[in-house]
Amino acid sequence: MSADRLRERLAARGRDWPGGIESFPVLDSTNEEVRARARAGTAAPWLAVIAERQTEGRGRRGRSWASPHGNLYVSLLAPMPTLPDARPLVPLIAGLAVAEALLEFGVEPRLKWPNDVLCGGRKLAGVSAEASFAGGEADAVVLGIGVNVRVNPLGDLATSVLELTGEGLDPLEVAAAVLIRLRDRHLELRAGGSALALHAWRARSIEWWGRAVEVTSGEQALRGIAVGVDEGGALILELPDGRRQTVVAGEARELRLGGR
Ligand code: BTN
Repeated sequence: MSADRLRERLAARGRDWPGGIESFPVLDSTNEEVRARARAGTAAPWLAVIAERQTEGRGRRGRSWASPHGNLYVSLLAPMPTLPDARPLVPLIAGLAVAEALLEFGVEPRLKWPNDVLCGGRKLAGVSAEASFAGGEADAVVLGIGVNVRVNPLGDLATSVLELTGEGLDPLEVAAAVLIRLRDRHLELRAGGSALALHAWRARSIEWWGRAVEVTSGEQALRGIAVGVDEGGALILELPDGRRQTVVAGEARELRLGGR
């Protein structure tokens, strides 16, 4: 079973996983599985659900996430850090952890705010982060991670580890590296390491500071110059009238010449 093989891989790296690991040959969506368990109150902290493929993989903003066999699809129930400063950084450290894990396999990923993992401007991995509530309080975050390990499902817009390195890795090996990085970055946040995490995130971000971007947040689309990321992980935009505005969540893209 994949869950046992994943535990073996973690053990080979000298690590244990603090929660349950469940694996499925196919699921509609690993995110949906973890969400449903959290809603039912049957998910312990750090539950990890992994599938070999998904029939209804979901990306951010309701988009679909193509999920053929050969890539990594995992969702986790990460505890919400108690330090208020650390909470908004959870989505960022998830992307950071994925990028750092992939470095191990010979690729050089960059991060696009908030947590897209790109290589050469193409999508290599996607991360979603959604608060999970218990008794009206956000006590955990459902993190969904998809890594194009062997298959690039989107052609020119995306890439895969196989395309970049010629290596056809086992998605479970990538899973082990991702889980370990994620746990370490999460422990660091919980111990008050927000500044360290942000420093690492900024160092790995794509170099688009000073460039024109459009950020879609809810129904709103804002255009401005990307200035940086503040201590809370929010994107700082300089608007056309010179005012600065921060955006806490959304989807950003660079505007090319001609404004498109
Ligand atoms: C994005 O970039 O839009 C986020 C993509 C997140 C995809 C992963 S794959 C595992 C988990 N299950 C899902 O249905 N979505 C996430």
